[in-house]
Amino acid sequence: MGLVNPSSCPIYWAYKGEKVKTVFICQQCGKESPKWLGHCPDCEAWNSFVETAISPSRTSLRQSYSTGNKPQELSQVEKGAFPRIHLGFGEVNRVLGGGLVPGSLVLVGGEPGIGKSTLLLQTSAKAAEDNKTVAYISGEEAINQVKLRAERLNISGKGIYFLSESNLAAILESLESLRAQQSNLLVVIDSIQTMCLEDVTGATGSISQVRECTMRLERWAKQNNVPIFITGHVTKEGAIAGPGTLEHIVDVVLYFEGEPFSSYRVLRGVKNRFGSTNEVGIFEMTNVGLSEVDNPSQVFLSSFRDGITGSVVVPALEGSRPLLVEIQALTTSNSFSPPRRIANGVDFNRLLLIAAVLTKRAGLKLFNQDIIVNVTGGLKLNEPAIDLGIALAIASSFRDSKPIPNLAVLGELGLNGELRGVPQIERRIGEAARLGFKSCLTPKLTPAIASTVKQSLNDASIQLIEASSVAEALHLGLSKSK
Ligand code: TYD
Ligand code: MG
Repeated sequence: MGLVNPSSCPIYWAYKGEKVKTVFICQQCGKESPKWLGHCPDCEAWNSFVETAISPSRTSLRQSYSTGNKPQELSQVEKGAFPRIHLGFGEVNRVLGGGLVPGSLVLVGGEPGIGKSTLLLQTSAKAAEDNKTVAYISGEEAINQVKLRAERLNISGKGIYFLSESNLAAILESLESLRAQQSNLLVVIDSIQTMCLEDVTGATGSISQVRECTMRLERWAKQNNVPIFITGHVTKEGAIAGPGTLEHIVDVVLYFEGEPFSSYRVLRGVKNRFGSTNEVGIFEMTNVGLSEVDNPSQVFLSSFRDGITGSVVVPALEGSRPLLVEIQALTTSNSFSPPRRIANGVDFNRLLLIAAVLTKRAGLKLFNQDIIVNVTGGLKLNEPAIDLGIALAIASSFRDSKPIPNLAVLGELGLNGELRGVPQIERRIGEAARLGFKSCLTPKLTPAIASTVKQSLNDASIQLIEASSVAEALHLGLSKSK
């Protein structure tokens, strides 16, 4: 049995002679209620409320917040961009909106084992090379473990101060003394779920601990103008444990994603108080750590072979960056059990919709077919712009007819089988042309969009094949001969 934090026990406070106040806290989303509830009205979880004593200091803590700040008329405020700290990883800078803002709290969330610690250790090493001092605090790993990893990643460790500790009060004390000695400090806390504060109720990793620890770190970062990275594990449902509340407190939320079987990782901005959340960074996990992928389209198409049935290239958009990705589909007849649909990397409901549209509007009899759709490279695409690509891949496999050579495919599918325009079409077509695709199947372009596309193409040439319906697109996009 693990040690129980005495401050979570009402008797402890009674013993200390203080009036005991308790609230019920939902362990899923952090909602507080004065009485027990069986069903959380916020996150719909059942039986998730746990009675928790509130430390009397909690109220006094809140009262001590007065900073003496006065309201200022906005027009009198001097215009100034946020100064940015440029980190050694260009892909991380890009996702952060051009660099790290001093005093910001950045949460990097991801499944266990995806590479968060590796990413932050490498980022720390690059920052240390750039004359910054990094405090790397781990509540998960011992110093020897981290040293082993650093050696594997060819990191000397100069300028990186490591501390294996999970008591946040002790950590803040160490950070204070480090800050007094060193300028240009950058802090990494790995992971927030292992941090705890003695004066806060709840076990380590509970909502109340995670929330309070994050709040203290946020305050410390702002007071000292030191940027802090924290890592957070996501639950099976894909939310950072202690979710909504945690994401509200921090300035930036990044998710580090990827399929376990694939070596590619995507760092995605989900919230950013200092920039857009449109950006993604793409990395590859190698045996010497993460390396940036400079030309993602080329990488994701590396095993693509033209002229295979069921295989189509789509110019998807990851953040503001066009990315050419191969979509594969396989249909097999199945007369004995209900037909199955398997979607890897695309939305399952979108696949059902596309199969239904193909059946009804293009006359493809898919009701006795199993359909498997796969995005190669382990990427997840969930924008409607790839609908036509999926439809063409399915039709190509079903009819056993190859897509025409050197073709990229774009377009959203409507329920009536009509094709709809897609955002930023000129950048997508431009990327296809840059990578040597000769033609692009698109929805009908308005004259204005057609001229934008033409302008953005410069000297590159690509033939645009416009279709207004899915049936017409299949007719134009699939070879007549097998
Ligand atoms: P880690 O950074 O510990 O993940 P997290 O902090 O998100 O839990 O990454 C662990 C995984 O990364 C592990 O499965 C091994 C793999 N890995 C490599 O493939 N190459 C490397 O150089 C390193 C350091 C890790
Ligand atoms: Mg880790």
